[in-house]
Amino acid sequence: MAGEAEQLRAYVEYLRDMGVHDFYRQGEPVYVEADSSPALNSVVASAGTPVVDAVGIVDAPRPVHVSAPASEQKFRVAPVPGRPESPESLIAKLVSFDDLLPVPAIRVEAAHKADALTAIREEIGDCTRCPLAYAGRRSIVFGDGDANARLLFVGEGPGADEDASGVPFVGKAGQLLNNMIQAMGLKREEVYIANIVKCRPPANRVPEPVEANTCDPFLLQQIDVVQPQVIVALGSTAAMYLLGVKQSLSGLRGRWHSCRGAKLAVTYHPAFLLRDPRMKGEAWKDLQMVMAEMGLKGASRG
Ligand code: URA
Repeated sequence: MAGEAEQLRAYVEYLRDMGVHDFYRQGEPVYVEADSSPALNSVVASAGTPVVDAVGIVDAPRPVHVSAPASEQKFRVAPVPGRPESPESLIAKLVSFDDLLPVPAIRVEAAHKADALTAIREEIGDCTRCPLAYAGRRSIVFGDGDANARLLFVGEGPGADEDASGVPFVGKAGQLLNNMIQAMGLKREEVYIANIVKCRPPANRVPEPVEANTCDPFLLQQIDVVQPQVIVALGSTAAMYLLGVKQSLSGLRGRWHSCRGAKLAVTYHPAFLLRDPRMKGEAWKDLQMVMAEMGLKGASRG
């Protein structure tokens, strides 16, 4: 009962916030903002075609990130505008990351990716956009790793250890993920790691659609900045929101999907592998597919 009351309160506060937060403000374009500098205006370009937004509403052309000369790049990255007709539409829609927004034609230069990620983090601020803000979270777990990574892992959401540290995948599942990365012949610092939601769901429950759909636009921007060659979706929640499909993991594994211009592979979540270590061999097959694509030889033995 107490839990239900807390959930209800969270939703009530969420609805209240929807009316006042930038993320839901209607009618204003949201840009990689230019200021009065003409050079800086070159970081704003239109995507050109109407797109379907985070909640499935057809919207006007969206601005995309393009490169300005190195000395002049500044970043004030704002989220993809969510414009729900009703809270239900935000809850109900399952839209792939590719259908949320066109993949930008021109990308952030390598030297500026870290700054661009910082700008996204600043835009998130002390977020109260979804109920998870009121469900006991301590940290917003943004993402971790190399802004220029070729490989990007996406998990579900922070657990207790991640909530305490502000860093994704640092608990037991994170240790297993580190081992998986190492076995591929990479260091953790060489990859980028993020989650579908950036705040810990209470009792580590699966994020609600409204939470994932609210948080997704930021992850989408992170992916567009990092522009990895390969994305690995860890578990069915990551796969479902990245690909916009509700399908069993076994139906998604073992083949390539695409997401934001990257190749996307689906594998088991490390927490699942901790519960059922017999499936580690299957996960290793998935990672070998990734290694072959990336030309990785794996960790040398001995
Ligand atoms: N599980 C996840 O999905 N993400 C984390 O960051 C930690 C555990």
